[in-house]
Amino acid sequence: MSGGRALVTGGAGFIGSHVAELLLADGYAVTVFDNLSSGRQENIPPAATFVHGDVTTDAASGVVREGRFDVIAHLAAQIDVRRSVTDPVADATINVLGTLRLVEAVRASGAKTRVIFASTGGALYGDFATPPNAETVPKDPESPYGIAKLSAEYYLTYEARLHGVDTVALRYANVYGPRQDPHGEAGVVAIFCGRVLDGRPVTIFGDGQQTRDYVFVKDVARANVAAARATLPPPGRLDARAFNIGTGIETSVTALAAALGAATGRPVPAAHAPARPGEQLRSSVTIGKAASVLGWTPCTGLAEGLAETYSWFAGRRAPGTGR
Ligand SMILES: NC(=O)c1ccc[n+]([C@@H]2O[C@H](COP(=O)([O-])OP(=O)(O)OC[C@H]3O[C@@H](n4cnc5c(N)ncnc54)[C@H](O)[C@@H]3O)[C@@H](O)[C@H]2O)c1
Repeated sequence: MSGGRALVTGGAGFIGSHVAELLLADGYAVTVFDNLSSGRQENIPPAATFVHGDVTTDAASGVVREGRFDVIAHLAAQIDVRRSVTDPVADATINVLGTLRLVEAVRASGAKTRVIFASTGGALYGDFATPPNAETVPKDPESPYGIAKLSAEYYLTYEARLHGVDTVALRYANVYGPRQDPHGEAGVVAIFCGRVLDGRPVTIFGDGQQTRDYVFVKDVARANVAAARATLPPPGRLDARAFNIGTGIETSVTALAAALGAATGRPVPAAHAPARPGEQLRSSVTIGKAASVLGWTPCTGLAEGLAETYSWFAGRRAPGTGR
């Protein structure tokens, strides 16, 4: 048990609720801060203190100032890449300014707080570099969402270098698992599970050969706890305190559908639709740096993770079941 005080912004959401649970299990007193815009109250672990509020307001700064947390896992965000395209200002307001306000509040508090930022591997590197992408490849975000995450990382780097704020960025690949909302950055597993449960075909766009790096949500929560404890390199350039959190394995959409069928023992028929313009073709990240510095490696294989995810979605549909 490590103890300490932790704040999880976005802790009512998919990944944040798993992070909050694991920090509690690790002995932290956990406060969840969330505006419930996409998160759900029932996701918040009962042992956590819940504060309803928005990271773009003074309410968040107040919680940070008064809480004097050892760790802040900052996951609250606008996560819809398509929405970032239609409304980049709203996206930047939450994902850039919300993050900056939070880190500024940490700086002003003078507390020794480690800020762990939920960044993205999937949306940062773009299609120019050949995967798997190391942290140091030139960044080429293709959406306002990716641009906002990269901008926020630059602010974290600045706050660390100039003001000594203890910041770290975890660049998640495509996260999947229980409690995922099917409308997010990587909702394909959640969508496929829903389709299989409905007895409907899954939709595969284009030739189905586009790849992603699927990492199980409980492994991502473990990465946050590892980052909370790790001895980190001194602040330096943008990538010095950034870590890819994925598997290093590329899985095509067609292979994902087959893996889901094998993991669940259910047929996964596919309907084909035209390729979506602008869709990234390949994505995966290297994870050697997280292994060597954070001591983190993923431990849930795709088959196991898909089986657990499918069971969760199936259980949710059973009458009388809760979370
Ligand atoms: N899901 C993925 O594959 C993935 C990949 C890369 C990065 N990420 C990042 O991980 C984090 C968590 O994503 P998720 O998939 O769990 O999404 P999610 O939508 O389930 O969680 C986001 C949470 O933040 C809350 N929130 C949103 N705006 C807020 C605001 N202004 N103030 C306070 N709370 C607010 C929501 O209510 C929700 O509970 C995000 O920062 C996201 O960008 C996710």
